[in-house]
Amino acid sequence: MLDDFYPRVFRCPPSFPVIVERGFKAEVWTRDGRRFLDFSGAATSLGQAHPKVVSRVKEGVEKLTGFSGLLAPNEPFLKLGEELRSLVPVENASIAYATTGSEASDFAIQLAKFATGRQVILSFYGAYHGLTGYALQSSPTEGMRRVAPRTSEAVYAPYPNCFRCLLKADDCEECSQAVLGFIEEEVLGRAVEPEDLAGIIVEPLQSHGGILFPSSSFFRGLREITESTGALLIVDEVYTGFGRTGKWFGIEHHGVEPDIVVMGKGIAGGLPLAAVAFRGDLVEEWYLCSGGSLGTYAGHYLGVLAALATIEAIREENLVENALKRGEELMKGLREFVSRYDHVADARGIGCVQGIEIIEDGGPSKKLASELKDVLFRNGLLAITVGRHNNVIKLTPPITITAEQVEEALSIIEKSLEEVSRRAER
Ligand SMILES: Cc1ncc(COP(=O)(O)O)c(C=O)c1O
Repeated sequence: MLDDFYPRVFRCPPSFPVIVERGFKAEVWTRDGRRFLDFSGAATSLGQAHPKVVSRVKEGVEKLTGFSGLLAPNEPFLKLGEELRSLVPVENASIAYATTGSEASDFAIQLAKFATGRQVILSFYGAYHGLTGYALQSSPTEGMRRVAPRTSEAVYAPYPNCFRCLLKADDCEECSQAVLGFIEEEVLGRAVEPEDLAGIIVEPLQSHGGILFPSSSFFRGLREITESTGALLIVDEVYTGFGRTGKWFGIEHHGVEPDIVVMGKGIAGGLPLAAVAFRGDLVEEWYLCSGGSLGTYAGHYLGVLAALATIEAIREENLVENALKRGEELMKGLREFVSRYDHVADARGIGCVQGIEIIEDGGPSKKLASELKDVLFRNGLLAITVGRHNNVIKLTPPITITAEQVEEALSIIEKSLEEVSRRAER
């Protein structure tokens, strides 16, 4: 049924040809009763239907369904602002709510442009910050015109890839230094005047880009560049935030304090909520945001309740530590696969954001990775492919994953690798 429905109604097919019915933390069940371990997880740190999130949202929906924060706040809205402020690695942070990660990234960029009075944003190949932009461009009201994006205002640099450095460096550290050198010499030396650079937007770990986790010196270098040029450092934690990497925020692995942090996905137990935290001294007043809300649904009552429940659950169940520990177990198993299977070239990542790189005949193999994804699916594990060559299997379970579930996932991956390797060798 799905084969026919998608091209007719939605055009683009889904990642998995099933109808999802329910879920609990790292597990999901389909309409036809199949159970999967969800390692494709994106929208929530806690996984599906965490009891704390469910009960708060159930209670909340009887009280308010959607009185916009643009008009007046409610208690949980204020409380979450205080909580986020205490959690983000930005001193004396101010908070603005959004609804999606795309919006929050967009707003972070607008804020950097507004606060600096500059236009250019540097980002990285392989980055994913979202889909918005044109809506604002088509809204030429006073003020908005100043921040509306035009493509000429974006410049790009490679993102450090420890395994396959685009700048041909031999190791992780050298690749970071090569990229920093590229930014200094090529981007700021030729493409852009340093005094036009409003900000650098960067992920602490690129997930869509292929599970790339650069060395800390890269982020320290970016901090130095922003300080010397007067630009702002924007860290996109939409994927890495809320415990996924074994710290509350991925950038905490690198000991660097950003000016602006973008949050989304994991923040609200699966409900749509996003936020931007920014240095309080950046702007006196941000005209785009009313009462801390960037848009009608921003800081939605139910999302805020779910976010407060998420923070409570993470603290009470020590889920940040759990992400790190389960990640170590996962990585140990994946490293064994690298040594045992010729088609697995690399295992990388940290905490609950990991991946394996699939090769064939010495090079990246999109075909084999896609076959592996399908076999994993048949064997009960949801995972998708990412990366420049689409040959990295992204393994991102929720941070509620148990040791037994990691073991189960590793045995599914092993069984699937056996199957795919046998087929490839035929
Ligand atoms: C790092 C990062 N930033 C931004 C986004 C966009 O978030 P959303 O899909 O909620 O708009 C994503 C989504 O995958 C992401 O991974």
